[in-house]
Amino acid sequence: MALFSNTFLVLSILSLLACAANGQLSPTFYSRNCPNLQTVVRSVMAQAVQKETRMAASILRLFFHDCFVNGCDGSILLDDTPTFTGEKNAGPNANSARGFEVIDAIKTQVEAACKATVSCADILALAARDGVSLVGGPNWNVLLGRRDARMASQSAANSNLPGPGSSLSTLISMFAAQGLNARDMTALSGAHTIGRARCQFFRNRIFNEANVNASFAALRKQTCPASGGDNNLAPFDIQTPDQFDNAYYQNLVNRKGLLHSDQELFNGGSQDALLS
Ligand code: HEM
Ligand SMILES: *[C@@H]1O[C@H](CO)[C@@H](O)[C@H](O)[C@H]1NC(C)=O
Repeated sequence: MALFSNTFLVLSILSLLACAANGQLSPTFYSRNCPNLQTVVRSVMAQAVQKETRMAASILRLFFHDCFVNGCDGSILLDDTPTFTGEKNAGPNANSARGFEVIDAIKTQVEAACKATVSCADILALAARDGVSLVGGPNWNVLLGRRDARMASQSAANSNLPGPGSSLSTLISMFAAQGLNARDMTALSGAHTIGRARCQFFRNRIFNEANVNASFAALRKQTCPASGGDNNLAPFDIQTPDQFDNAYYQNLVNRKGLLHSDQELFNGGSQDALLS
């Protein structure tokens, strides 16, 4: 099997989610004004992942959800106020996006080290990289110099982010809308080698779909019944749920994708050739 390698994932996440705006991003952007930035981010992330391994996944997802709404500009971090509606309560984020308190903790430490210097968008990009590498994934240089958004868009968060019932053609077109091709989409989906999803998002798949391994479906039904338990969690990756590796793709080939949208990457369509 020519399954995606970690190296491929690295390069993908590096170049795809590090979406540059107009100014030039650079790995040394803060080397003069905040030389300890990367050490600070790494140490707070190490503590957070030590306390709860899933946090690596939660922060990686925050970065994805930030980047798909008007670029990687920290917009997902903005709280709603009586006069401002942000992205936190958009459908894909409400009661689902998590880890904000870890980004806040990093921000507090970064401000203590270098006041009013580092963007929150860059902090999120670094934290996502560190989470991945702390759970066995690759490491990469993060290009820095993103500017923080002063606005956000709940409606763009609702329309730009794919849902768990998406078809392959919808996934391809939603990533294309961000300048990412089908292969990029399949590579970035490898993030689902870590993290958890709630029963309500995979119930229909395990009860009603045909292209699902029967013993996998039976196992998941133990904690995701036909009714009730909507918020019960299951790991995306049945083999190594907290390790950033390529088991996600192996699972798809074995019809053990958790979400409908996951299994769409290996369901007789254009992406099968990348995995088998
Ligand atoms: C391809 C389309 C995608 C769809 C339809 C999708 C959908 C979902 C859903 C429904 C969940 C579970 C949410 C919940 O139970 O509350 C989830 C979790 C997650 N997603 Fe995705 N996702 C996609 C792509 C991505 C990408 C590109 C990344 C990052 C590069 C990513 C990273 C994650 C991670 C790490 C989690 C687990 C978060 C945690 O445990 O807190 N996803 N995704
Ligand atoms: C489903 O998965 C189980 C456990 O890995 C395996 O023994 C079985 O052969 C799989 N079934 C099919 C039809 O591939």
